[in-house]
Amino acid sequence: MKITSAEFICSNTNVALCPKEAIPEYAFIGRSNVGKSSLINMLVERKKLAKTSSTPGKTRLINHFKINDSWFLADLPGYGYAKVSKKERDSFGKMIEQYATRRTNLVCFLVLIDARIPPQQIDLDFMEWLGDSNLPFVIVLTKVDKINQAGKSKNLGMLKEELSQHWEELPLILETSAVKGTGKEEVMGFIDETNRKLGV
Ligand code: GTP
Ligand code: MG
Repeated sequence: MKITSAEFICSNTNVALCPKEAIPEYAFIGRSNVGKSSLINMLVERKKLAKTSSTPGKTRLINHFKINDSWFLADLPGYGYAKVSKKERDSFGKMIEQYATRRTNLVCFLVLIDARIPPQQIDLDFMEWLGDSNLPFVIVLTKVDKINQAGKSKNLGMLKEELSQHWEELPLILETSAVKGTGKEEVMGFIDETNRKLGV
């Protein structure tokens, strides 16, 4: 997919205030610091569109970007960041839950998982919740530039093993590096193909 435009639309905490336009939306979610904002910038070829940071907990709002004037990309706050207060964690959780269940133009979640580490319960729980809520998702492994082939395969094997205890069919799993540009074609190809099926 050729990127002809990528514009920031708005940030907010309330799903009722998200953009009204009924165009397909793809939501990037995952643990704090997994690389959501960096991946978005890599995919849309704009280094500073989404704000990134080496300190977890950077993205605290639901951020909407409109791509090629035809679909939305949503950058969500990370879950599971231990250093924020319980109250704040609960309010993030509520925000994501309301977003996920009320955002009617939402087509698919991209659940980002750090390729360098074994499966984390919080990610497995989140995907289980998506499944139980009938919300479609694909998995995007991040930071593959930081792990060798053997380590990546081991973690991926464990992830598939965990997932297959819960799912008959595994979701699509794509591998990316925001630093090296790995997986750009695959992620954008998936979005493009899905948009086409929706007639966009
Ligand atoms: P929150 O908004 O805090 O939830 O984090 P996030 O998931 O948006 O992560 P962000 O994109 O801000 O990146 C977190 C850190 O990981 C930054 O220091 C990035 O430079 C680094 N990072 C992100 N993607 C990659 C990657 O593919 N490879 C490497 N090596 N580092 C990455
Ligand atoms: Mg972020």
